[in-house]
Amino acid sequence: MSMEERFVSPSQQQEDMDYSLRPQSLGQYIGQQKIKENLKIFIEAAKGRGEALDHVLLSGPPGLGKTTLANIIANEMGVDIKTTSGPAIEKPGDLAAILTKLKPNDVLFVDEIHRLNRVIEETMYPAMEDFALDIVIGNGPNARSVRLDLPEFTLIGATTKAGNLTSPLRDRFGVISRLQFYTNDELAKIVKRAAKVLEVGIQETGAYEIARRSRGTPRVANRFLKRVRDFAQVKGEGIITEEIAKKSLAKLEVDELGLDRIDRKILETIVENYDGGPVGLSTIAAAVNEEEDTISDVYEPYLLQIGYLDRTPRGRRVTKLAYQHLGIEVPEE
Ligand SMILES: Nc1ncnc2c1ncn2[C@@H]1O[C@H](COP(=O)(O)OP(=O)(O)OP(=O)(O)O)[C@@H](O)[C@H]1O
Ligand SMILES: [Mg+2]
Repeated sequence: MSMEERFVSPSQQQEDMDYSLRPQSLGQYIGQQKIKENLKIFIEAAKGRGEALDHVLLSGPPGLGKTTLANIIANEMGVDIKTTSGPAIEKPGDLAAILTKLKPNDVLFVDEIHRLNRVIEETMYPAMEDFALDIVIGNGPNARSVRLDLPEFTLIGATTKAGNLTSPLRDRFGVISRLQFYTNDELAKIVKRAAKVLEVGIQETGAYEIARRSRGTPRVANRFLKRVRDFAQVKGEGIITEEIAKKSLAKLEVDELGLDRIDRKILETIVENYDGGPVGLSTIAAAVNEEEDTISDVYEPYLLQIGYLDRTPRGRRVTKLAYQHLGIEVPEE
């Protein structure tokens, strides 16, 4: 099954273009309490001084709200945001073109910042530190390096792989925030807010049923809500009840914990073929026919979070909890 078909996939798809569901202010952004409290202070202080906010690094698994938060920061600062991504900036000239168009205190949002190439990354250092760009103009014997002054700006970097960032780059961020999986209470709030935006009625128990299966991830919660809404409209009375939510999510092959076929296949493979592990990432990836990165960035974080998987120096191991969930007897030590 490809990522595109995977229903609980927290990765971005067309429906995320649905901006109406994206909160626009810190007040509407649910959860991530500590990060919000800190940002509120840093934003107020920077605004008070009339300066750009310090550079911000947002890390965490897909769908937890990094892009949303970057846009909110710009909104709260009252500045414009330019969005690009690590792999999209190929040459120093690309970076210069973006940076020289910024207005003072604007935000430059670089998604997948761990994928910046080396040359761009090194061009980025003086831009971040001194708001200056050293670029080479012309080539051959006529080439010369010029220093371009930039307006003060805020770089917001987002990454699902904080560990892949070089330390010189990481050290140049003044604010480093790691987003956490959301609690069921928070997800239920997100679902209720989204239901209001989508103008569909929802019962408290229905919202919790969706929340519980959303693997701690707002993007998954919103996607479930939309599908459950379809069932409610066609098979129900147009209101999302617990029963409608349960039935429709079961039809989508999502279990009570939000695990889907691939999650279960990962766990089952480790149990059945490798006695519960430890087993290396590449072996698991080959066995379930997925990319290593997809396993480590998309599937594993939630399995680790709910305590079904352990990362050991010698590889991944499943826990007793996972055996119980799969309905397989836990082997004697
Ligand atoms: N704190 C939140 N409160 C309410 N809704 C949220 C929150 N965080 C995220 N969302 C919803 O989840 C969706 C996904 O969030 P977002 O696109 O910001 O995730 P991301 O971390 O950037 O993911 P990726 O790593 O795939 O880029 C958003 O469209 C938004 O509707
Ligand atoms: Mg994003």
